[in-house]
Amino acid sequence: MIARRWPIALGLVLSLSALMLGLRSGVDPIDGWLHAARWTARAGFPLFILTYAASSLGRLWHSPLTRALWRDRRWWGLGFAGSHTVHLYALATYNSMAGKALTAQTLIGGGGAYVLLYLMALTSNDAAMRKLGRNWKRLHTLGIHWLWFVFTFSYLGRVIQGREMPFAVLALAVSLGALGLRIAVWVRGRKGA
Ligand code: HEM
Repeated sequence: MIARRWPIALGLVLSLSALMLGLRSGVDPIDGWLHAARWTARAGFPLFILTYAASSLGRLWHSPLTRALWRDRRWWGLGFAGSHTVHLYALATYNSMAGKALTAQTLIGGGGAYVLLYLMALTSNDAAMRKLGRNWKRLHTLGIHWLWFVFTFSYLGRVIQGREMPFAVLALAVSLGALGLRIAVWVRGRKGA
């Protein structure tokens, strides 16, 4: 069981490396923390997408790799939670250094995403699953789609503004592709039902 927890270490290594790289690439400390916020979001994105698409990939393609990803999706999710905590640290430091006030949109969208992320992390265990019953599924379905929404609309905004290209286009395509996989599984499930 311990051996399966390596995605948590991976999430922390990726996000802390992104934080260091971001800080080094800034022209001044405030710019460094802005880069750190940007790069830590990027470091967490692959872990998020693997968690989001794990069960769809496992259902649509049968291979040892997709089976392992599906089985261990809890650890991939916790790896993302760890890495996105580093994003939270970077963005909070940037906001306080730059004296930026949060807009209502960021507070509701981003703040809500963090509340759901930590509720999901706290309930990512068998005891909580048993205790919450059907509400466990409701919480995790809402949370994972809220996070998907924030990622997708962040990248959509960048594509529209022509910022952070071509990475923003790639990330948007991957996000929409992952949603497509979930829809394909859902449609197949309904046809089979
Ligand atoms: C209150 C909450 C949040 C605040 C204040 C915040 C703030 C920031 C800041 C300052 C940046 C760097 C902006 C730039 O590149 O110019 C950033 C980037 C980003 N954040 Fe957050 N963030 C929050 C929550 C989240 C959440 C919950 C997600 C995802 C679920 C997320 C995803 C992203 C993405 C995708 C980027 C762009 C990375 C890129 O350019 O590749 N953020 N955020």
